[in-house]
Amino acid sequence: MNNSFNHMISIAPMVDKTDRHFRYFARLLTKKTLLYTEMITSQAIIHGDRKKLLDFNPTENPVALQIAASNPDELYKAVKIAEDWNYDEINLNAGCPSDRVSGNMMGASLMAYPELIAEMISSMKSATKKPVTVKHRIGISSSKVTSSFMPYGFFNDLGHLSDFMIIINKAAPDRNIIHARIAILEGLSPKENRDIPPLDYDMVYNLKKQFPNSIIEINGGIKTLDEIHEHLTHVDSVMIGREAYSNPAFMARFDSLYNPQDSMTLTRRTIIEDLLPYIEDLESKGENAHLALSHTLGLFQNQPGSSLWKRLLSTPSLGTKSILLRDALASLPQDILDKEI
Ligand SMILES: Cc1cc2nc3c(=O)[nH]c(=O)nc-3n(C[C@H](O)[C@H](O)[C@H](O)COP(=O)(O)O)c2cc1C
Repeated sequence: MNNSFNHMISIAPMVDKTDRHFRYFARLLTKKTLLYTEMITSQAIIHGDRKKLLDFNPTENPVALQIAASNPDELYKAVKIAEDWNYDEINLNAGCPSDRVSGNMMGASLMAYPELIAEMISSMKSATKKPVTVKHRIGISSSKVTSSFMPYGFFNDLGHLSDFMIIINKAAPDRNIIHARIAILEGLSPKENRDIPPLDYDMVYNLKKQFPNSIIEINGGIKTLDEIHEHLTHVDSVMIGREAYSNPAFMARFDSLYNPQDSMTLTRRTIIEDLLPYIEDLESKGENAHLALSHTLGLFQNQPGSSLWKRLLSTPSLGTKSILLRDALASLPQDILDKEI
């Protein structure tokens, strides 16, 4: 089992959210958490602007690259290309219900074809020595996709999920990240697919019991440190998506899970001050500092100053974003800026 870094928490891949700017910001809040890229298709890596898609700041490591693909050969090529970048893990997306993805036999619809997933994992493993992982759901339901593995267009029970594991385990993925809901491939938007199918954590816990040697990471609806502690008594690690993005200060608590002594003393002021040189650097290169700062909108979530912070960041400013940040440091409530997070 290639488990070269023993992380307990990761931040989920999220399109339009977990870009390199968000990951830089997240790394100011947590040093140990594994960060994921947004999903990138193998086609984009092969034919697109690789530097733009794959470059990242070395402070972001450990970072996992998530790839969506439907074809083992293309996937092999994409992983080989990504070898020139210092990613710590390569992850296959088998959980995204989006039509654009699942309609092309990528993402969650792959779950109907576990043999193909196994082939894809093997192909990734032959292209890299890095850990190769897969993110999937506990099941899927579709009125269009059927297969010999899924003759009735759905599976949503532990027996079927175990059969799925047995098949993909032939390729020995280094970790399974499991979103504890089924994906409903038609009729629900991707957003609804993250809320409407009920969470079934027990199914993931029971899978871990059946496959004690598989490294299992649980995902879906996790919002508090207490919940993280509870999940860690059943599975190996926990993946957090929306709560980390909308309330980034949550991430500042994560490192203490490894060792209470390790946690940094962070305040919102230190975070903003640490972000300043990064924003100045983006501005000096003519890059989009507004986009980078948009990922920090939740920094004052549930704190006095939250609406002022959001207003400041969203108001088109006459000066640069770095001047705006300095102004924000002067105008936000000073006690909140200096309170430990
Ligand atoms: C805006 C957004 C974009 C997402 N994009 C991806 C993606 O690119 N790849 C993926 O595997 N999951 C994606 N997801 C799903 C998350 O990785 C995660 O599985 C889901 O949000 C459930 O976790 P949470 O309840 O902690 O947010 C996305 C979720 C959101 C909210």
